[in-house]
Amino acid sequence: MLSWDEFDVEENTSTASATKTKADAVGAQARAAQAAPVAAPKPAPAAPVAPAAPAPTNRMDSATAASPRPVQAEPSESESEVIASEAVQAAIDALEELDLTVGIDELAESAQRVAVDDKRMINCRADLNQLVPFKYDWAWQKYLDGCSNHWMPQEVNMNADIALWKSKTGLTEDERLIVKRNLGFFSTADSLVANNLVLAVYRLITNPECRQYILRQAFEEAIHTHAYQYCIESLAMDEGEIFNMYHEVPSVAKKASWGLKYTQELSDPNFNTGTRETDQALLKNLIAFYCCLEGIFFYCGFTQILSMGRRNKMTGTSEQFQYILRDESMHLNFGIDMINQIKLENPSLWTDKMKEEATQMILQATQLEIEYARDTMPRGVLGMNAPMMEEYLQFIANRRLVQIGLPEQFKGAKNPFPWMSEIMDLRKEKNFFETRVIEYQTGGALSWE
Ligand SMILES: [Fe+2]
Ligand SMILES: [Fe+2]
Repeated sequence: MLSWDEFDVEENTSTASATKTKADAVGAQARAAQAAPVAAPKPAPAAPVAPAAPAPTNRMDSATAASPRPVQAEPSESESEVIASEAVQAAIDALEELDLTVGIDELAESAQRVAVDDKRMINCRADLNQLVPFKYDWAWQKYLDGCSNHWMPQEVNMNADIALWKSKTGLTEDERLIVKRNLGFFSTADSLVANNLVLAVYRLITNPECRQYILRQAFEEAIHTHAYQYCIESLAMDEGEIFNMYHEVPSVAKKASWGLKYTQELSDPNFNTGTRETDQALLKNLIAFYCCLEGIFFYCGFTQILSMGRRNKMTGTSEQFQYILRDESMHLNFGIDMINQIKLENPSLWTDKMKEEATQMILQATQLEIEYARDTMPRGVLGMNAPMMEEYLQFIANRRLVQIGLPEQFKGAKNPFPWMSEIMDLRKEKNFFETRVIEYQTGGALSWE
């Protein structure tokens, strides 16, 4: 990689010198182009540049000024071939006519330096282009953590999965159903989450450090959709069947339409927060997508696929899901922090009615996920069955309720799959799968045994 020191050395080489000469000549020509009409059949020869050259203002100009070599006055034969088109002159003219008063009111409103106390999660009037000073360090830290967890689906070896999927006896029909249903649900669910983020949430969260994380999350959702597509393609599945499950298979379709219900109002470009009703609509969207979709709807499928990996089946697909689960648990934690911060800054939103609605949302999502578990596990499979999954989902629902300050609704629900919380911390899982991750950082730093 080129360092700044090397860059300085390069500048003094003959190559850099040639580049500089060309830059001088192009600069001279540009000045000549401004002086003479572009449409002229032959551009007027450039006047000597040196006497009229302005004082050095940047790195290139300084280098030119320091050089003992006289500035080339006449362009060489090859350099004179660069003739600016009429479009270039049109661009220069357009900039001269640029109306600097457009948007001036908006700029004046946000021209003040931002103080930490000016920052707010929603309805903030401070300049959103000023990232610092940070108010929500947790959001910035999650952005940094997300970046250091970067991975790509192609880094996962899918060969064992391809062989197992092709083999007629490698998987039972119930196991095949689980793989298909989950790829069907997740391939579109992650896309719904990404659309909600960029089309509804991003605009309405008025804090730059949170927006920075939301942009990172949106990219991670794209990687997740990529990962599902990569699995589907690797296994040569019927793409039409898988990608259309979200409106053809009832247990998948119900979950997708439940999530979509909460994004409809917000994705209207005319929707704005600022009243209690609209602020509550945003809060409901955040609870629906972070606590319910990413925090409940993903858990049956994740548990099933990861359980398969624990039994040394579909290890590549499991590994993809393991990385995705790790990202998702950070999305969930970010969403919960965001929801709680909005509640803290706007206590009037968290009414008894709102608490009741939030509780109902989490309970409905839990019920839909239980139905999905029954549909995908008509019999016992992989050491689990629908009743065990039901208790697991009740345990998860209790956690989601408590995380946003609501009381548990399933007294005594326990976690029948304690290995799931272990698996979320990938650093502990060194010998879990066929390919073992020794260190999980950026893609370039991944190390495999
Ligand atoms: Fe995702
Ligand atoms: Fe997510």
